[in-house]
Amino acid sequence: MALSCSRLSVAYGRRKALSDFDLSLGRGEIRALIGPNGSGKSTALQALAGLIRPSAGHAEIDGRPIGSMPRREIARRLAFLPQQPSAPDEMRVGQLVRQGRFAHVGLFRSYAAHDEDAIRWALDSTGLTDFADRSLRELSGGERQRAWISAALAQEAQILLLDEPTSYLDIGYQIEVLDLIHRLSREKGVTIVLAIHDINQAMSICDRISLLEKGDLIFDGEPKALAESGLIEKVFRVKGRFVQIAPHAPPHFDVELARWTSHPA
Ligand SMILES: Nc1ncnc2c1ncn2[C@@H]1O[C@H](COP(=O)(O)OP(=O)(O)OP(=O)(O)O)[C@@H](O)[C@H]1O
Ligand SMILES: [Mg+2]
Repeated sequence: MALSCSRLSVAYGRRKALSDFDLSLGRGEIRALIGPNGSGKSTALQALAGLIRPSAGHAEIDGRPIGSMPRREIARRLAFLPQQPSAPDEMRVGQLVRQGRFAHVGLFRSYAAHDEDAIRWALDSTGLTDFADRSLRELSGGERQRAWISAALAQEAQILLLDEPTSYLDIGYQIEVLDLIHRLSREKGVTIVLAIHDINQAMSICDRISLLEKGDLIFDGEPKALAESGLIEKVFRVKGRFVQIAPHAPPHFDVELARWTSHPA
């Protein structure tokens, strides 16, 4: 397995945030982590990235426990985009993306042609080529998010962990980023886990979906099976139904908004 964990548990002090979490991804698979706020998605991604120590269980990359791998080796194999990444405001977009190559370049080697190609490709893929000299302070929320996606892409890792990568993006860039994720998986065999709130985007881009509720994994399977499970309405406490909008498309969750759509007489 390219990326896996079994019975992974994380606690913050005495509060359990993730319990007995299982995940197993083959090369090139795309997995969505969905679940309500506070259900453990970011915690799971951080544990998979080796950034927090689990209280039980462990994550593995290509069958090797991540806890036993040096940080730089992890960074060469796995890129992680946190939900709220931070960098100094004065940092320029180009510098941020360049930092993504650090694991490949190291302290004493200089950037080779391939590193420069990777940086150019990462900027171009997120529409930021003309933003390279702008500081992060001078960007909109969505542009900043694209800069961070770009930095993760520049790492050229075989595993990408993305925590709500499209949360600030307009619908055009949301689709562009999801399309890029899909192409990376299908054309380059990149293995991808993303936390995402848009159920329909998760249904359409992912091979499998993991649904978390209060730190428990309550569903792990294909989008169609999730649609049939009735869990979305229950877990998110909403009314809605899955509809088939095109013959070969995944089922589309149509949430009931009726309460707010009535107009004053
Ligand atoms: N550093 C921390 N210290 C203590 N508790 C934390 C910490 N980070 C998260 N938690 C708690 O752990 C639980 C899981 O949080 P997590 O951030 O993994 O949720 P999430 O599913 O990513 O939510 P969201 O959709 O809001 O991003 C929550 O109850 C949260 O309050
Ligand atoms: Mg989160």
